[in-house]
Amino acid sequence: MKNYLIDIIAGARPNFMKIGPILKAWPKSGWIRYRLIHTGQHYDQAMSGKFFRQLGIPKPNVNLEVGSGSQAGQTAEIMKRYEELLAQKMADICLVVGDVNSTMACAIVAKKAGLKVAHVEAGLRSGDWRMPEEVNRVVTDALSDLCFTTSVKAGRNLRKEGKKKSQIHFVGNTMVDSLLAHRNRFMPPEFWKERNLRKGGYLVLTLHRPSNVDRKDKLAELLRTIVRHSRGYPVLFPVHPRTAKTLKMIRVDSFASRPPWSARHKASSENCIFTMPPLGYLEFNYLVKNAKAVVTDSGGITEEATMMRVPCLTLRDTTERPETVAIGTNELVGTDPRGLGLALGRLFQGKWKKGRIPPKWDGKAGRRIVEILTRLWREV
Ligand code: UD1
Repeated sequence: MKNYLIDIIAGARPNFMKIGPILKAWPKSGWIRYRLIHTGQHYDQAMSGKFFRQLGIPKPNVNLEVGSGSQAGQTAEIMKRYEELLAQKMADICLVVGDVNSTMACAIVAKKAGLKVAHVEAGLRSGDWRMPEEVNRVVTDALSDLCFTTSVKAGRNLRKEGKKKSQIHFVGNTMVDSLLAHRNRFMPPEFWKERNLRKGGYLVLTLHRPSNVDRKDKLAELLRTIVRHSRGYPVLFPVHPRTAKTLKMIRVDSFASRPPWSARHKASSENCIFTMPPLGYLEFNYLVKNAKAVVTDSGGITEEATMMRVPCLTLRDTTERPETVAIGTNELVGTDPRGLGLALGRLFQGKWKKGRIPPKWDGKAGRRIVEILTRLWREV
């Protein structure tokens, strides 16, 4: 019997926890072997290597080492290098996850080379075309033969765009699989004790959307608002490299009266924001699990907060993950300082919703994907 080859693509931080459960569920022997391809979109230890180690993901078979670039430059470089790889050794299927540039770039190359394309986390739509991710999602789905979805709504979006029922499979959420598989290993970051942190006694902040972090005045205004309304709770802010570039131009300490690890610190009376390099998966999720709330502009974190039943305030006007709002603990508070201030007010009055877990977010998505792929891929 012929052996087939599937390329599994990962490029940026939010891809890694999505591929882990698929690789884990892959049969050791069988007629479809995988080749794990890292595009190198994210390359720092803190953004990539540490995640592979902590999540137990095998070393990639190939690293395309594309690095950073403009939207078009990075996409083009991934396309060129993946095409060269296929010219050396052709595959039969290409599996992409999420919505980053690597996702779309590899889907385009694969489809043109005659591979079947499978997309994990298909059908998400924010309706906001200013987000590069929205373009990546729509293009990738248009090219995909098999679409694996995390929600019923995502399936409906795909149907509206002309996908056949037989191409859409509601399998659950592989990011949730990772969270459930690793939750017993979450661990406090090194500074937990030193900084006297306690469960429920701090906020976690993440910001990386170009619209929030590329302009100095916008970023400064957001930080000022968060600190003003955080009632002295320390705001722990692991800084994404994109954000770090702008942050260098702002004096963060001007928002903080005293660093939160100071022995004299009294959580009730100080306003403190403090920054740190990006954290590992296990440390970051420990912080989220035990936080009073998360303030973020990420999409994936809204799902993780929903799973851990932690209040989540999203600094965006739209979401491609509406179930985190309709069912989960997430709320869109926009980026207007007034909206954020009011939302934080409700949080501290104890009026935040409790949230429930969306259907099929049960830790079995990776297994369902592998089962469907190996059974159906030739038929679509
Ligand atoms: C990308 C994804 C975004 C995802 C985010 C998670 C796209 C269009 N965007 O955005 O959907 O939510 O990853 O992090 O694909 N950099 C480093 N080290 C790294 C990687 C990047 O220093 O390992 C710096 C570079 O200066 C780079 C900048 O961060 O210019 C932004 O990286 P890039 O991959 O372009 O986009 P992200 O903002 O990370």
